[in-house]
Amino acid sequence: MSRRMSMSKITELSGSLDKIARFLAYHTPRPFRDFILPSYPYAINPAMLSFLTQAIDKNRGKGGAVCEIGVGWGHTSVFLLEHMRSAGYNDRVVFVDTFRGFTSESMDHEVAYRGKLKREIDRFGYASPKVYEKNLRKQGYDYFEVIPGDCEEVDWARIGTLAVVLLDVDLYLPTIRTLEAIYPLLVPGGVILIDDCQPDQTFDGALQAYSEFTKARNLPFEIVGGKAGLITG
Ligand SMILES: C[S@@+](CC[C@H](N)C(=O)[O-])C[C@H]1O[C@@H](n2cnc3c(N)ncnc32)[C@H](O)[C@@H]1O
Repeated sequence: MSRRMSMSKITELSGSLDKIARFLAYHTPRPFRDFILPSYPYAINPAMLSFLTQAIDKNRGKGGAVCEIGVGWGHTSVFLLEHMRSAGYNDRVVFVDTFRGFTSESMDHEVAYRGKLKREIDRFGYASPKVYEKNLRKQGYDYFEVIPGDCEEVDWARIGTLAVVLLDVDLYLPTIRTLEAIYPLLVPGGVILIDDCQPDQTFDGALQAYSEFTKARNLPFEIVGGKAGLITG
């Protein structure tokens, strides 16, 4: 009886300590509070995230991979893997990134032919494939492959067919060249979603690539979530 009493006292006490800790964290002064309180963590908008989960649901079991090309911090990678895990899917998942930001050739093209400033576009040089992959494995995600490198040089034929692709490498050259490489690999009904298809933006090279690609093949020009170009196989 007394043992049961002491266990319940301990539970009560730890509950109170937890409450106090949460209270202190919640009322911590800025800027620390900004790290604790929620804010939207994704680089792509909710309509795009929702579109991707629905596209994965529709195209599962067709043998095509789910692929994110240009992963940034990896928030969307976690979201996609969590969707696959919670839905019980085990289709192939492939992530591609240089983990060194944009290639020199793609930035030089933006500066020479698209009127961009190098200092404006030279971002994303911070990442590491090891840290990225470790973080995903630590969370228990197993069924994925990370390909570090330029998406223009990936051996796409080795990866095989593709079901759902988020192509998010922002600039004109990697977007147009990768579209040319991956479009023939789409399963029927599969989709490629290209982020940054808005005019007059720093990263509107993706829009130029999407417009040219769809026009040359007489494909529909469709925008998802106000900012992503859609190509359906
Ligand atoms: C906007 S971020 C991607 C954001 C990510 N999709 C998300 O939703 O969080 C662009 C990424 O593209 C990568 N990238 C740029 N050029 C690339 C290329 N030629 N090949 C592979 N990755 C590239 C950059 O390293 C960067 O991580």
